[in-house]
Amino acid sequence: MALWDSRFKKSLADVALKFSSSIDIDGRFYNEDIDGSKAHVQMLMKQRIISAGDGKAILKALEEIRKDITSGKIKFSWRDEDIHSLVEGQLVRKLGERGPAGFAAEAGKRLHTARSRNDQVALDERLYMRKELVQLVKLTRTLQKTLLKKAVQYKDTVIPGYTHLQRAQPLMFAHHLIAYISMLNRDVERLADCTKRANISPLGAAALAGTTLNIDRYYSAKLLKMNGIIENSLDAVSDRDVMIELISACSIIMMHLSRLSEELVLWNSQEFSFAQFDDSFSTGSSLMPQKKNPDIAELIRGKVGRVYGSLFGLLTIMKALPLAYNRDMQEDKVHFLDALDTTKDCLHLASELLKNTKFKKDRFEKELDGDLLLSTDLVDYLVRRNVPFRKAHNIVGNVVALCVEKNKKLNGLTLKEYKKFSPEFEKDVFNLLTARASVKNKKSQGSTSYVEVQKQINFWKKKLS
Ligand code: ARG
Repeated sequence: MALWDSRFKKSLADVALKFSSSIDIDGRFYNEDIDGSKAHVQMLMKQRIISAGDGKAILKALEEIRKDITSGKIKFSWRDEDIHSLVEGQLVRKLGERGPAGFAAEAGKRLHTARSRNDQVALDERLYMRKELVQLVKLTRTLQKTLLKKAVQYKDTVIPGYTHLQRAQPLMFAHHLIAYISMLNRDVERLADCTKRANISPLGAAALAGTTLNIDRYYSAKLLKMNGIIENSLDAVSDRDVMIELISACSIIMMHLSRLSEELVLWNSQEFSFAQFDDSFSTGSSLMPQKKNPDIAELIRGKVGRVYGSLFGLLTIMKALPLAYNRDMQEDKVHFLDALDTTKDCLHLASELLKNTKFKKDRFEKELDGDLLLSTDLVDYLVRRNVPFRKAHNIVGNVVALCVEKNKKLNGLTLKEYKKFSPEFEKDVFNLLTARASVKNKKSQGSTSYVEVQKQINFWKKKLS
């Protein structure tokens, strides 16, 4: 029996019902669906649209249904079509059974007064998002904290910084890690922003046009601790923007995780030999006995494809849909839930992987002494001696060319050789030619200098505590 049977001569064919059933996916919303129904009933009672007796019977039965679903006593079948039909069907059955004992015989049949499954699905999704957003923020914060711990642990480590994956300038490793903390913070802000728009109630849109019954949409929203209602009843049931926003936010998080993973994979390579994953987070090869592979980081990098796919999946579903609800929209959950699950998983695993990774503190420092990546320090040196920047850049370019030609480092040239390029070079220029001097000498706000990095560490310690 479907909810709409009387209008039809035949019931829906099994193949069609099975095809259109969504309970295997929206069954996850059973708590949200029941919470929404409870708020709706309480509103109907307050408005005297249903009696207090019927209302109480419904509220009690809904809690029993919740328990039975949780314990597995009520099992989902594709015949139930979706979670909304299942809960209502159970309710009608339950209160029907109790019929002879009292007033509630038909109470279950009153639950759906002045609402539609279109309202319900939109509401359930929003309640679910609200809950999941809390988890996403928590997991992002945890990863930020893990990064900060590493930044503190490796506060003295100097690494080469890259652009185009070519050595550019020395960096404090902590500075590099804090860049990720800072990008993840924008993710938290995006999630918080998304929460604002998720936490508004579509309930009472009554399919699309509102209702002739005297409902109070603000009241049910208030009971659900939502910040008001989506005013336009048509928009309330047609909108999936916030879901798209959430998957976009997840996509950006995943992009960040993928960049981090890529760096970890690189650092873990023998060529870099900087990061060492714990054995418990590494995999071997079925063929090559020596292999220690970074599969976890690679999988995080790879799973970005799923989340981007979800974003495009939902954008494509929503494109060109006429108002209001269309059954196409049932497919939203496939993408949205997969994006959420994948992002949560990856945030968690990124944090665990990082916790279980050691870095070789002194891997780079010696190698970087006199390295060409200190060239910019030489340019700044000349600029401090009043040589115009473009000219200084040119002079140091010539110095670099000589080094390349003679296969020497910057500290392998003599002062006499330097003087040939510019009389402004003095003995003290050699003080600049270590990676540590380079980072130490940085002055600008937000730079990789000791002082600025310490400032950033202090800032994030406070912010994340
Ligand atoms: N299972 C449906 C979905 O997820 C619920 C809404 C059904 N509404 C309808 N008019 N058929 O979208």
